[in-house]
Amino acid sequence: MSFPTHRPRRLRRTELFRNLVRERSINTAGFVYPMFVCPGKNFEHEVGAMPGVYQKSPDKIVEECREIEQLGITGVILFGLPDHKDPRGLVSLDSDGVVQQAIQGIKRAKLNILVMTDVCLCEYTDHGHCGVIEDGEIVNDATLEILGEQALSHARAGADLVAPSDMMDGRIGAIRKRLDEHKFENVPIMAYSAKYCSGFYGPFREAAHSAPLVGDRRSYQMDAANAYEGLREVQFDLDEGADIVMVKPALAYLDVIRLVRDNFDAPVAAYNVSGEYSMVKAAAHNGWVDEKRVVLEILLGIQRAGAEIIITYHAKDVVRWLKP
Ligand code: PBG
Repeated sequence: MSFPTHRPRRLRRTELFRNLVRERSINTAGFVYPMFVCPGKNFEHEVGAMPGVYQKSPDKIVEECREIEQLGITGVILFGLPDHKDPRGLVSLDSDGVVQQAIQGIKRAKLNILVMTDVCLCEYTDHGHCGVIEDGEIVNDATLEILGEQALSHARAGADLVAPSDMMDGRIGAIRKRLDEHKFENVPIMAYSAKYCSGFYGPFREAAHSAPLVGDRRSYQMDAANAYEGLREVQFDLDEGADIVMVKPALAYLDVIRLVRDNFDAPVAAYNVSGEYSMVKAAAHNGWVDEKRVVLEILLGIQRAGAEIIITYHAKDVVRWLKP
């Protein structure tokens, strides 16, 4: 039985009917706001391709985190832009490094937000790759040790959660082991599990100064064509001890988010990445789309696909828009 017995428009006729039957609303409690920490004091610089997103010195990061807390945003994820880089990214282990300073500052301010850190080498290596290079290859196992040390260094500074984004095999197990050995068994790992090799990271590489000098990331990040391989990556990361698994980017991978959500019972995060943000900003700037409308539609779509947690540069705007 169909029309004219059924008229779906009956329940769309008025605002009250639409409110009555709405299946979900955006869950802002799952928002994580990315931030870029650079050296210095009282310094900030807007990222050209990402209007509204800044590289900031640790003191300025703490200032913005007060705003984050006031807005009721649950957490931030920190990326570091060190003052110098080296072949193995060892600068990332400095207990007085930019990320470590920012964590300590946020913790000293006793802000009620979760401080998460991105664990990777690409922001710290002079060649810009996410792993150590030997004989022209990005080598896996030698990288694990440095990642473990970096995660430990973030935990020592006070990080509430670490999020490895490098895509080396076995990093979750290596990091879990290192953290546990040093009594950080309560620090969770959010694994960038199904992380695809993507053109949508373009603006991030300006923001984090992390573009590879030669080559690309195809030998470690996933091929965009492979959804089921994403399930394998998630399985391995959970087996190694991941607490939260992530799909990244979000928009071109909503099917992967749904697959992961339907096949596992761990919390699922999605990263609404830099290029997804910049496209909206550029189109809105030109008057081609209504920014507020499309952003809310995008985030709702990512949550509808199955992600509880969304890492998004839009977080502050959205929370302001939705404030009663
Ligand atoms: C580091 C890392 C990247 C992003 C998060 N962590 C870049 C990359 O892998 O090339 C991208 C985030 C974004 O585009 O917003 N490995």
